Order: sequence, then C-alpha cells, then structure tokens
Amino acid sequence: MDDIRPRQTLFRHPLAAVGGALFAAGGALFLVLLLIEFSTHSDNPYRSLVTFIAAPFVITLGFGLFLLSVWLQVRAARRRGEKVRFNLTIDPTDPRYRRNLGLFLALTAVLVVAVVYSGTKAYDATDSVVFCGETCHTVMEPQSVTYHNSPHARVPCVECHIGPGASFWVRSKIDGTRQLIATALNTYSRPIETPIRNLRPAQQTCEECHWPNQFYGEKMVNRTYYRTDEANSPWTVNLLVKIGGGNPRTAKLEGIHWHMIVSNKIEYIAADPKRQVIPWVRRISAEGDTVIYADPDTPSPDLNDPKIEIRRFDCIDCHNRPSHRFLPPANALNLALATRRISPQLPSIRKIGLDLLNADYIDRDSAHAAITSQLRAYYRENHPDIMTAAATRVDSAAVELLRIYDENFFPEMKTDYRARENNLSHFVNNGCFRCHDGNKRSASGETIPHDCTTCHLIVAQGGSESADSLETKLSGLEFLHPEDIEDAWKETRCTECHDPGSGY
Ligand code: HEC
Ligand code: HEC
Ligand code: HEC
Ligand code: HEC
Ligand code: HEC
Ligand code: HEC
Repeated sequence: MDDIRPRQTLFRHPLAAVGGALFAAGGALFLVLLLIEFSTHSDNPYRSLVTFIAAPFVITLGFGLFLLSVWLQVRAARRRGEKVRFNLTIDPTDPRYRRNLGLFLALTAVLVVAVVYSGTKAYDATDSVVFCGETCHTVMEPQSVTYHNSPHARVPCVECHIGPGASFWVRSKIDGTRQLIATALNTYSRPIETPIRNLRPAQQTCEECHWPNQFYGEKMVNRTYYRTDEANSPWTVNLLVKIGGGNPRTAKLEGIHWHMIVSNKIEYIAADPKRQVIPWVRRISAEGDTVIYADPDTPSPDLNDPKIEIRRFDCIDCHNRPSHRFLPPANALNLALATRRISPQLPSIRKIGLDLLNADYIDRDSAHAAITSQLRAYYRENHPDIMTAAATRVDSAAVELLRIYDENFFPEMKTDYRARENNLSHFVNNGCFRCHDGNKRSASGETIPHDCTTCHLIVAQGGSESADSLETKLSGLEFLHPEDIEDAWKETRCTECHDPGSGY
C-alpha cells in the first residue's frame, strides 16, 4: 500500500538548527577541555567541574532544544490534521531546510568560538589562587590569609593540594564536588577538619620542589621572647637546628631529614584524629631492621584491626603548617615587640596584649572594638601618665594588635592556633615530643632520643635582646630555663606548663 503521509526532513524547524549548533559547540568545548585535562601538569577539582558539568550541560541543552523542535513539528502537524513521518535525511530541495542549514552553520561558527573561549577562560579561572582562596570567601579566608603571609605565597594552592599525575584525579573530582555542595548548603564544618585525610603523599608534592638529598647543615634560629612581667623583660635563645639530609656530594649523611626520612622509614599509629597522641611507632631502617617503640602505659594495638591506620611519617607530619600558620598570640607579640611595631616600653603590654588577643570574640568587628577600647581603658586606669605623655604609643600598639588578630584569628570559622596545632617544635604543641618524649620503649628497652642536643644546639641564651650580652658557646650550652623551675623542664613536657590554651 502506498504511504500517503508526506515525508519531510526534521531539520525544517529553526530550533533544530539552534539545538544542533549548541550541541556542536558543547561537544567542541568538551573535547578541547578533555585534551587540556589529560595533558596538564597540575590538577584541580573545581576546574573539572567545567569539563564534566558545564560542557555536558551545553550539550544536553542543545540536544533538548533539538527534541523540542521535533515535538513542536509533530504537534503542529497534528493540529493541521496531517500525519507526518519525519526522517533525518538531508533534503537540499526543501527551501526551509536550506534556510535552516544556513542558520545552523552560522550559529555553529559563532557559538563554537564563544563557548570554547568562555569555557577555557572559566577553566583557567578555577585553577587560580584567587579561585581557591577567595571564591568561597568565608570558608577559605583563614587559609587564604595565612597563605599570603607564608613563604609559599607564590606557590599555587594546587601544587600542594593536588599535585601532578592521574592517580589522584578521580578522588579530587569527587572531593571538589562534595566541597562545593557543602559550601552551597552551608553544611561545612567550622573549623574545617584537619588533618586532611586524602592529601597526596608529601613526597609527591613537596619533593617536586624540595629534594631531601639536597638538605644539609644547620640552620640558625634566633628567638627573642618577652616575659609577662611589667618590664616585658626579654629572653633570647639561639638554636642551631640540625636540618641535615643526605647530600652525596658533601658525603655528610646527618641531621633531622636524614634520620627521619631518608635512611629510615618511620610509621606510627595515632590515638586521636588530630594525630597529637602517638602511642606506637615503628622504625624500619634502610637495611630492613625493624624496631617498635611503644608507650608502656597504652595497651599495644591490634595491627590486624582494619580500623587502625598505620601512617607513614612524611614531610607534613612535621611541616603540617608550611603555608597556613596561625601564630599563637605569644609568638606574634614576641615578633611585634622585637621589631618595635609594639613598644616594649609600654608596661605589661606583653601580658595585656596576650589576654586581649586570647579572649573569645563572636566576630571580627566585636574583637576589634573590644581590643582597642580595653587596651586604652587599661592604660587610662593603671598608667594615666602614659595616656597623657605617650598616647600615640598605645594607639599604635592597638593598631598592631588588630593586625595580629586579623592575620591569625578567624572567629567566623572558629579557626586560630587553638584549632591548628603546629608540629614543627615542642614548645607550643607537643610536635616532636609526641614521639621523642623519652617514654616510649623498644623491646630491648631503648627510647627514641630525647636528649636536648639530638635536634639542635643552643648556641646563645640569656635575658637580653642584644647578642653581645648573651651566654654564647658554639659547641652548645645546657638549656637555661628563664624562670627558675629547677629541673622540671627535663622531666615534664614544655606544653604541660606552656599550655597552648593560655596563648602560647
Ligand atoms: C606549600 C604547600 C601548600 C600550599 C601552597 C597551600 N596549602 Fe593548603 N595545606 C597544606 C598543608 C600541608 C595542609 C595541612 C594538611 C593537614 O594538616 O592535614 C593544608 C591545609 C589546608 C586546608 C585545611 C585547613 C587547615 O588549615 O589545615 C585548607 C582549606 C587549605 N589548605 C586551602 C588552601 C588554599 C585555598 C590554598 C591557596 C590559597 C592553599 N591551601 C595553599 C599545604 C599547602
Ligand atoms: C612549587 C614549589 C614548592 C612546593 C610544591 C613546596 N614548596 Fe616549600 N618552598 C618553596 C619556595 C620557593 C620556598 C621559599 C624559599 C625561600 O624563601 O628561601 C619554600 C620554603 C619552604 C620552607 C622554609 C620556610 C621557612 O619558614 O623558612 C619549608 C619548611 C618548606 N618550603 C616546606 C614545604 C613543604 C612541607 C611542602 C609540601 C607540603 C612544600 N614546601 C612544597 C617552594 C615549594
Ligand atoms: C622529623 C621532622 C621533619 C620531617 C619529617 C621533615 N622536616 Fe623539614 N624541617 C624540619 C625542621 C625541624 C626544620 C628546621 C626548622 C625551621 O625551618 O624552622 C626543617 C626545615 C626544612 C626546610 C627549610 C630548610 C632551610 O634551610 O631553611 C625545608 C625546605 C624542609 N624542611 C622541607 C622538608 C620536606 C620537603 C620534607 C619531606 C621530604 C621534610 N622537610 C620533612 C623537620 C622535618
Ligand atoms: C611519629 C613519631 C616521631 C615524631 C613525631 C618525630 N620523630 Fe624523630 N624519630 C622517630 C623515630 C622512631 C626515630 C628513630 C629512633 C631510632 O631508632 O634511632 C627518630 C629519630 C630522629 C632523629 C635521629 C636521632 C638520632 O640521633 O639517631 C632526629 C634528629 C629526629 N628524629 C628529629 C625529629 C624532630 C626534629 C621532630 C619534630 C619536628 C621529630 N623527630 C618528630 C620518631 C618520631
Ligand atoms: C626531637 C627533636 C628535639 C628534641 C629532642 C628537643 N628539641 Fe627543642 N626544638 C626542636 C625543634 C624542631 C624546634 C623548633 C625549631 C624552629 O622553630 O625552627 C625546637 C625548639 C626549641 C626551643 C625554642 C622554642 C620555640 O619553638 O620557640 C627551645 C628553647 C628548645 N627547643 C629547647 C629544648 C630543650 C631544653 C630540649 C631538651 C629537653 C629540647 N629542646 C629537645 C626539636 C627538638
Ligand atoms: C614547670 C613548668 C614549666 C615547664 C615544664 C617549662 N616551662 Fe618555660 N616557663 C614557665 C614559666 C612559669 C615561665 C615564665 C612565664 C612568663 O614570664 O611569662 C616560663 C617561661 C619560658 C620562656 C620565656 C618566654 C615566655 O614565652 O614566657 C621560654 C622560652 C620557656 N619558658 C621555654 C621552655 C621550654 C623550651 C620548655 C621545655 C623544654 C619549658 N619552658 C618548660 C614554666 C615552665
């Protein structure tokens, strides 16, 4: 039987041309981005959202418009009481087809250029420090501000957080999407939880720039502290920190980096999520000898328990704040006093500053208001002479306190030194003493070295700011604690008295 229904090409409707053009542009964008995605050195979870969400969206939109054009044509035909059968043939004899072909080609040309251009622009933007640090302004503010004050201020976020290569690719995609959703729904935790669980092994990020075989020698660390008395009495300690390493050219295999990460593989089990309590440590030397050091007071862990994570010790177990350091107020004040941004001649400024910075404030504005007014009130009440003779000193101290506050305290995210332990010392947080506490023992009774000269030599110390009036000895001095506490510093951890909660 003859088919009486007219056959006509689907491409007669202008919407089909628009849909087709969008489809082509989206497809082109996707291909271009996919190429970049697989060929770039660095990687970024947000960037891929452009590839895997924005580009497919354009493609789907194009396809949707195309389907809409089909539906519109079918409906129009039904209205006319006709039965049409569509096909996808190219029909140059049909004038409407020809008109739409022109529309399609012109639109495709324009759209491909526009979509691919803006798509790759968006793609680049998500890769930038500005995007990572500032798009989700409040959430990332603490990390962004501290980053800009850090020695890594010119290292892009992705260099440390994602690193090169394909293996962390999928994980970072999933994570980035989860983070975006949490930000949109306002369900992220305050502060952001640390340590970051799926940070790529530091060997593959940090070591791209810092190569442990190239570390050698010692680093002189000069610290001036100010006491909490009325005179803000200074105390200086100069340490020669044995950085060491394994540089074959100097033939010296020595110091912290050599022992910790080149010649030994060190693993540990932490008892808390923040990895601040470490009851079990295992050392596997380059020759394969294994020694386990365990806390005699903690029952030994069941290594077969799948819930127990044995973590390989790496750079960020010591350098956990390479780029986001939240200074404890005591450290920040010591720096400000040493550089005279705050005058040490203001009586008790070290103590008052500490108390004001350390108080709890609900937000930045109330912190600013309280710090300024309470500082002035303190000097008005206790040292009225200063408020008449040297009020500007108090005012500039207030300005400096606000700067310290802004760089290190983020009340909206509940983020400051109290939520962000620094493991690179043992003074403010337990840091090295999480293991080097002299308590953990091996089966044969050895301890992890706790001697004060294991990691550094104290080459100068004393109650002065000036190097000339310090006790000095290049081969190392016995530590002199500035306050007479007898031998307490030998037996107790520094943190038992220098409690981080009180501003250290
Ligand atoms: C030099 C390497 C490095 C750079 C550059 C860097 N970070 Fe980090 N970041 C780290 C390390 C290491 C941690 C801590 C991981 C841990 O404790 O588990 C961290 C932690 C974080 C955290 C978790 C919260 C916290 O304070 O620990 C966030 C959020 C973060 N970084 C965002 C950023 C952003 C945004 C940038 C760029 C503006 C950036 N990072 C640049 C190394 C870096
Ligand atoms: C893209 C290169 C790059 C990466 C990746 C990188 N750093 Fe750095 N790092 C630098 C540069 C540049 C400096 C500054 C050197 C200077 O000022 O002498 C620096 C400085 C440092 C310093 C000395 C800081 C100080 O206070 O003096 C430490 C420690 C450090 N980096 C640790 C790390 C750790 C840990 C990681 C991995 C989480 C890391 N870096 C990743 C480039 C990098
Ligand atoms: C056992 C703890 C520990 C580990 C693990 C560790 N470091 Fe260090 N690192 C230190 C200490 C301590 C210093 C000196 C302190 C300072 O710079 O204030 C230091 C200093 C540095 C410096 C600065 C050197 C200089 O001359 O100023 C860099 C860069 C560095 N480390 C990178 C790394 C990298 C990369 C890794 C991982 C491969 C790593 N560290 C692993 C403890 C460690
Ligand atoms: C996870 C536990 C752990 C932490 C945290 C830790 N260490 Fe160690 N460290 C060890 C172990 C285990 C050894 C090897 C002890 C042995 O068997 O000789 C070691 C050895 C060393 C040595 C070589 C000692 C020697 O004379 O042979 C130095 C130096 C060192 N660590 C410095 C540091 C510094 C500095 C820090 C803090 C920034 C630190 N360590 C933090 C576990 C740790
Ligand atoms: C396992 C290594 C290690 C041992 C053992 C060790 N220290 Fe330290 N110490 C460090 C590191 C690392 C720093 C931080 C250096 C820096 O800031 O660059 C530090 C810092 C210090 C400081 C300066 C405090 C600060 O961070 O402002 C003093 C003082 C000090 N140590 C004294 C001692 C005394 C006293 C002992 C013996 C009871 C001791 N240390 C044992 C690794 C060690
Ligand atoms: C028994 C308690 C106790 C122990 C343990 C202790 N300290 Fe102190 N420390 C004090 C007191 C009290 C002061 C005086 C505080 C002041 O003047 O504001 C002080 C002051 C200091 C100061 C002068 C600057 C400042 O910030 O107050 C330094 C530096 C210091 N201690 C280092 C250490 C180190 C390093 C250790 C561990 C090796 C340690 N202390 C262990 C009680 C202790």
